[in-house]
Amino acid sequence: MRYLTFALGKGRLAKKTLELFETIGITCEEMKDPDSRKLIFVNEELKLKFFLSKGPDVPTYVEYGAADIGVVGKDTIMEEQRKIYEVLDLGFGKCRMCVCGPESAARLLEHQELIRVATKYPNIAKDYFYNQKNQTVEIIKLNGSIELAPIVGLSEVIVDIVETGSTLRENGLMVLEEVCPLSARVVVNPVSMRMENERIAKLLKDLNRAVLEKERKEKECES
Ligand code: PRP
Repeated sequence: MRYLTFALGKGRLAKKTLELFETIGITCEEMKDPDSRKLIFVNEELKLKFFLSKGPDVPTYVEYGAADIGVVGKDTIMEEQRKIYEVLDLGFGKCRMCVCGPESAARLLEHQELIRVATKYPNIAKDYFYNQKNQTVEIIKLNGSIELAPIVGLSEVIVDIVETGSTLRENGLMVLEEVCPLSARVVVNPVSMRMENERIAKLLKDLNRAVLEKERKEKECES
């Protein structure tokens, strides 16, 4: 049996992904050591390999088949536009892609003015403004702390992720329009999907069951 390789986006999502994998009996003890400088981890028994990469690189590894399966945010999938299959919503890492800015920018959007849009996600922003809204805008690519842009006058609005909304609130900005909801997704290499169909289908079935079970428990706690 050959190894199935997983690419996980570093950070918040990776931790939650490993927790979910544990519930279906997929563990990787080596990966939990915070002092380790190792880049790739193996579960010999199940013939699985795992590695962590920068989130935006996950779809690249999966498209080229260097990883069979990836776990990454929907935002990254949309932005990277790689030839991969998105097969499962893991239901965590929930947030929204939004157009945000000061209240005064609302009328610029309303009147379809030629505004500047700062974002880490130029493809998502382009698709939203050009294809969905038919509004011509100037897109300015930034690499982080996007909320700064309208504050210092680099742009009128931003397209960015909103989770709790506290970054916006603390900086006098607000959600002006919602682009789409986001969460962590499982992606698969199309060739792996065909060649390892049975193993991958079983894994996805188990994961799906675990996700539903987790959601059921969360609902129970709420009520
Ligand atoms: C993200 C996003 C917002 C913030 C939203 O940034 O770009 O800045 O989180 O979260 P909130 O609604 O809960 O405040 P991240 O922390 O990933 O860093 P970045 O600014 O470098 O992109």
